[in-house]
Amino acid sequence: MAVQTENGDANLVNLTTLLGARITGLGMCVPDRVLTNADLEKIVDTNDEWIVSRTGIRERRICDPNTLSSDLAIQASINALSNASIKAEDVDLVLCATATGDYIWPSTACIIQNAIGARKAGAFDLSAACSGFCYGLATAAGFVQTGAMKNVLVVGVDTLTKQVNWEDRSTCILFGDAAGAAVITPCTAGEGVLASVLGADGSGLESVWMPAGGLKMPLTQEAIDNKLNCIQMKGADVYKFAVRLIPDIIEATLARAGLTTNDIDHLVMHQANMRIINAVANKLQIPESKVFVNVDRYGNTSAASVPLALTEAFGQGRFKQGDIIATVGFGAGLTWGANVIRWSC
Ligand code: COA
Repeated sequence: MAVQTENGDANLVNLTTLLGARITGLGMCVPDRVLTNADLEKIVDTNDEWIVSRTGIRERRICDPNTLSSDLAIQASINALSNASIKAEDVDLVLCATATGDYIWPSTACIIQNAIGARKAGAFDLSAACSGFCYGLATAAGFVQTGAMKNVLVVGVDTLTKQVNWEDRSTCILFGDAAGAAVITPCTAGEGVLASVLGADGSGLESVWMPAGGLKMPLTQEAIDNKLNCIQMKGADVYKFAVRLIPDIIEATLARAGLTTNDIDHLVMHQANMRIINAVANKLQIPESKVFVNVDRYGNTSAASVPLALTEAFGQGRFKQGDIIATVGFGAGLTWGANVIRWSC
């Protein structure tokens, strides 16, 4: 089917012959420094029992002041390309999902592109907070499935520990720093990314956000004194939003692929909170053995969380040819995004 574009050119994409788009390589990078719940007990009025029972988090990784999102992202990208056996010069697009880029502009994707030597690649950042990697994977799959691009590098990275208020015990316990990356390449139709659902509800802007530092509220001394350059979160609202919405989003994405929850071999959710993961899995009646969890060791790593989980699950040999993997992210915006993948080696 030829689609007529606005300027009258025939769009050459033949929608009846879409390719598949699969994850060919995965990589991750976390800082060496571990911050345990016991360490947090020395910073704020909290305790290990409270944190573990409310979130499932036992420790998280934290950057030193000189380490930037790009540093983690570059290493994760190198690891993913090596895992995919693809040279940086063969990458067509570097897509970086982050809320903690080195600069407001230009993009962190351009920094990655230059550092890894992806000299033929385009590069841009994508802003969808904790949903960012899932948005990025859907976008990359679209480019590959239409034949517009061959090798797309999708990176999810965040260093949110640089934006937490270390006096706010309800948020500073939650977040960790990390990067994860995936290389997306063509495959047989019916394998790889089978379906994606992306969504947003901008009316929830203030549920989890950072008010200052953009153009609307510049970074004045007053804003800094009031911690407006730090994460502000209505935790209970975010919790309810996730538990109410995410099961439906997973089911809708599966339905788009002609599948049901019975077909899921692996549920790889955004690792925000163990209680959210359990609530979603219980609602969908997905057994614990199919649910991947690493929130206990890394906390909520925002855009890095899903690729970090995919990389670890893959590294543990969990994914077999033909397995159905449901991934889902959710977070600030509010945003959410899910992808259903048929694993293809
Ligand atoms: N240690 C000890 N006590 C704490 C605490 C901490 N780290 N943080 C909060 N508390 C206290 C509160 O002050 C409150 O005390 P009070 O009753 O005396 O006022 C009590 O614990 C209950 O607080 P509440 O905020 O109702 O806890 P909760 O059960 O809702 O759990 C979250 C808080 C943040 C763990 C939970 O709301 C949550 O997980 N939300 C989702 C957050 C998320 O995933 N965000 C990122 C999305 S991408």
